[in-house]
Amino acid sequence: MTDSVEKIAADLAKYLRREQELGTSLYFNEGIINKEPEADQDPFIADCSDFVAKAITQITPSTAAELSLEEKTTQLAELNKQVAACEQCKLAPGRTNTVFGTGNPDANIVFVGEAPGRDEDLQGKPFVGRSGQLLTKIISAIDYSRDDVFICNILKCRPPENRDPAKDEVQACEPFLQKQLEILQPKVICCLGRHAAMTLLRDKSSLKDMRLKAQFYQGIPVIVTYHPAALLRNPNWKRPCWDDVRKLKALHDELVNK
Ligand code: URA
Repeated sequence: MTDSVEKIAADLAKYLRREQELGTSLYFNEGIINKEPEADQDPFIADCSDFVAKAITQITPSTAAELSLEEKTTQLAELNKQVAACEQCKLAPGRTNTVFGTGNPDANIVFVGEAPGRDEDLQGKPFVGRSGQLLTKIISAIDYSRDDVFICNILKCRPPENRDPAKDEVQACEPFLQKQLEILQPKVICCLGRHAAMTLLRDKSSLKDMRLKAQFYQGIPVIVTYHPAALLRNPNWKRPCWDDVRKLKALHDELVNK
């Protein structure tokens, strides 16, 4: 039996909506996969170099001893055990799993999101739902995979109905993130969304303002960009997000290759 025209139209609309949400048919794909703009056609490149040059002069080198991959792996596993046993806030009884974070313990780039959602709570891994698929694309847009970077959240347990993290929950969970970053010793941190940025940077400005500043967490440069869930709601923010991740990549390359 053949499908009705209405069913085909509905399926096509659903497919296109999903493509659009994930950015596969919008700027993201064009800009990232097919066409790198030529430097002389792209005023952003000059801005980006200024941003990077300025940020580099403001970095405070860490005085902590560099940890080996083995030390990082062991210390993260130990911290993960503490997170799994944590009952410090009211989110603990409602969780299926804690979501510690995943990726390369030796990563130069750490992405920090807000809190696990339903899929993350079920799987015990960060960013595995729809916004996670978009984050995977963002990461591959700067020529990395999820296995090259480390991805974690401010909160390690899911807030009910995916509401915003409460102040007491952030206060209870933040020491885990601080310890995680101390072990990971990343070269650059990328905050996904205002909650991550407010927590790490102690900055209450708008996301728009935070994006444009060179900011630092314990001497480590921090790039602030839109949360992938916000990009799914408003695809117009994909372009500025692309600018932010190009800055992230430029800063990373400068720091790693110097
Ligand atoms: N949103 C987040 O901020 N983190 C996740 O892990 C998933 C969705």
